[in-house]
Amino acid sequence: MVGAVVNLAYSARASIVAYDFNVSWVIANPDAAFSRSVIGINGQWPPPTMRASVGDTILVNVYNNLGNQSTSLHFHGLSMQGTPHMDGTAQGSQCAILPGSSFQYNFTVDQPGTYWYHSHHHIQYPDGLRGLLIIDDPDSPYKSAYDAEIVLSLSDWYHSQMPGLLPKYMSTSNRMAMEPIPESNLMNDSQNINVPIEPNSTYLFRLANIGAFMGQYFWIEGHKMSIVEVDGVYTKPAEAEMVYLAAGQRCSVLLTTKEEATSNYPIIAESDTASPLGCESSVMRHHNSVFGWLEYDSSLPNPHPQPVDQYNVLDDMTLVPYDEQPLLLEPSQIVTLDMNMNILEDGVTHWALNDVSYSPPETPTLYTALTSGESATAPETYSSQANTIILNHNETVELIINNRHMGRHPFHLHGHQFQAVYRSDNWAGSFSDLEVNEDIYPRSPVRRDTMVVNPGGSLVLRFRADNPGVWLFHCHMEWHAYSGLVVTFVEAPLLLQQQMSINSLPKSHLDVCSKTGLSLVTDIDMQEEESPQSEDVPVDE
Ligand code: C2O
Repeated sequence: MVGAVVNLAYSARASIVAYDFNVSWVIANPDAAFSRSVIGINGQWPPPTMRASVGDTILVNVYNNLGNQSTSLHFHGLSMQGTPHMDGTAQGSQCAILPGSSFQYNFTVDQPGTYWYHSHHHIQYPDGLRGLLIIDDPDSPYKSAYDAEIVLSLSDWYHSQMPGLLPKYMSTSNRMAMEPIPESNLMNDSQNINVPIEPNSTYLFRLANIGAFMGQYFWIEGHKMSIVEVDGVYTKPAEAEMVYLAAGQRCSVLLTTKEEATSNYPIIAESDTASPLGCESSVMRHHNSVFGWLEYDSSLPNPHPQPVDQYNVLDDMTLVPYDEQPLLLEPSQIVTLDMNMNILEDGVTHWALNDVSYSPPETPTLYTALTSGESATAPETYSSQANTIILNHNETVELIINNRHMGRHPFHLHGHQFQAVYRSDNWAGSFSDLEVNEDIYPRSPVRRDTMVVNPGGSLVLRFRADNPGVWLFHCHMEWHAYSGLVVTFVEAPLLLQQQMSINSLPKSHLDVCSKTGLSLVTDIDMQEEESPQSEDVPVDE
């Protein structure tokens, strides 16, 4: 299945890391409360952790064996420099992979750190198709600072399948667009896990929120953490009692264990009730928690976690990147995105950015950019539902997101790590009304790929448009992305056309499209169904 890779120059230590992923329904019961159909890989769930080193080439051969749903894979946080057609967004950078079809992802990784991969089709990854992706770095500045590494994923978890929950969410009677609330919280796709450690040692904990919706507060009783990476960007060490990870965010922390093994310590991830709109109302003030234990000694008991009355999280705006990359100055394009909620003709409340509710265009936006010649620089060329913004090559872009709503929203940019230069507090008002002067921006702003905008607040990001391609920018709460909280950046389309053409795309690109008819159309979205075996599966306890 693996295509021949020839004529590529690799550095001495770079290699090819190949995966064959057969994507299919399997049964799982990660919270020991409810068995359900989930989307697994090679007959297993949780899906495997992908791992490679900086400089490696990753090949992923995906075969869609779901039977009833299309799919795609996105490698969250990888910039895909030079390979925008490998970004894996269905109807953004490729056609969705129909049931019975294959697709090959093939890209080089040049960024170290903690990433993840997930379906980027429909509202699919919360049904299980998400896993970790770790890029090792032989030259990490923290290489000698720790003895061993521990990886912990955090995730909310639903007992129902997404296609079953959607009709209620997208219904005319759900005027406030209240989201379905997850039933539980998972740590490494399980609960009550033991994490064996040695006393008097330092560990690198890689943390990732691979959930669909809820932000997570994370802490370990009796231990301080030192943040050294966020979203693949090394930071200056920053001490934290607690970290907050919104859906899509990652961080690495160093933790030094106690000198003596006299007790085990709870590890806690608690979901954020300010994540969802629904939870902000008085009806719902419910936290889902998941626990694990730093296990110093397996013969000692695992104590129950202590309640906290305050979340002392480190403000990620205060982090400083290790490389101290200076603030990008003099943006040549300022893009202001106002978040709205509108009732559309379907009678359903949709999220929107600047009054446009994104929905996946019939033709992948990348293909439109590649095939429309000079007019690729005109927003009108693209489907209006793609909510397209054109960026010029190498310009500095400033993005202002204004949130007039009650929830926190984690915004994620594909293809780039942005600088987060300003974030206002809750209910501070729109950025244009605030008197903010560039002088107060950090000289080396934190860089990451996913950042939270506060309720009733604004967030200002800057990045350099140095990566020709088609890149989505969206809220990483799946309900919101599905209902339209997305824009498409078409970056340097004319240069992109010089770098690649529709005919130079790998064969599997055009194959998955042609299966749907040569118009590159896929209409399976509307037909997706729950897996037949769902929910009447008995609880296996
Ligand atoms: Cu984690 Cu648009 O993706």
